[in-house]
Amino acid sequence: MSEQDATTADMGPDPLIDADQRPTALLQVRDVTKVYGTGHTAVTALQTATMSVEQGEFVALVGPSGSGKTTLISIIGGLLAPTTGSVHIGDIDVTALSRKELTRFRAERVGFVFQSANLVPFLTARENLLYVAGLIGSSKSGARARADQLLEELGLADRAKNLPEQLSGGERQRVAIGRALMNDPDLVLVDEPTAALDTALGRQVVQLLGREVKDRGKTGIMVTHDLRMVEYTDRVFQILDGHLTHVESSTGAGH
Ligand SMILES: Nc1ncnc2c1ncn2[C@@H]1O[C@H](COP(=O)(O)OP(=O)(O)OP(=O)(O)O)[C@@H](O)[C@H]1O
Ligand SMILES: [Mg+2]
Repeated sequence: MSEQDATTADMGPDPLIDADQRPTALLQVRDVTKVYGTGHTAVTALQTATMSVEQGEFVALVGPSGSGKTTLISIIGGLLAPTTGSVHIGDIDVTALSRKELTRFRAERVGFVFQSANLVPFLTARENLLYVAGLIGSSKSGARARADQLLEELGLADRAKNLPEQLSGGERQRVAIGRALMNDPDLVLVDEPTAALDTALGRQVVQLLGREVKDRGKTGIMVTHDLRMVEYTDRVFQILDGHLTHVESSTGAGH
């Protein structure tokens, strides 16, 4: 036991702070830099980015095209290695994981919605959801119930048996969101979830994401160009030319 622990123990538990209620910074990004390529063709996509996001927090990441948004969330989700810096999810140092550990980490802890939906083309909407549950060996009946519930919430119940090519762009995007939530990940990373959706549907999908993050104690980061969607998030980060800054709290936190 360290000296500090001993001091805390002497003081007894603080009745005002329930350990379970204390916010935990699930995600910590420290001094992350990303340079693509080498020599005179090198592109610095991120400059010493630092951010921390707590459990139960849903934050927005905004910035112009090419500013480094996809690069940052790809590094956070363990899809891309940073040039320097570190990413911690809970007590896991993502940047120190082996390839094999990373694969498992992504399957179990991260739900990623890519800018393009990236569905498996020969599986139906419902099978695309069940497929990821198979990756971590969930019980079949539990996975089916969860898939059907998500398809329903995403307004896709009557599209469950369609192949991706038989779905509209916005429907494919919603299947991708369902797939990302399927395994109940700690971290939900979504890249432009509303790009292919009209405003009403976009709001509905972003509200669903916010609710999942809040109700299930996840951490969510949403890249968006649509400032109207920012009102459903707790905080806003902005990237300009690879420089990440924290903007003030959004106005409608927690909707
Ligand atoms: N694999 C790569 N190789 C070289 N440069 C890249 C690579 N991927 C991205 N870049 C460059 O890095 C910068 C940041 O790209 P990134 O995809 O992160 O931007 P973004 O903010 O997501 O843009 P958008 O809003 O258009 O999706 C851009 O200048 C881009 O051209
Ligand atoms: Mg992008």
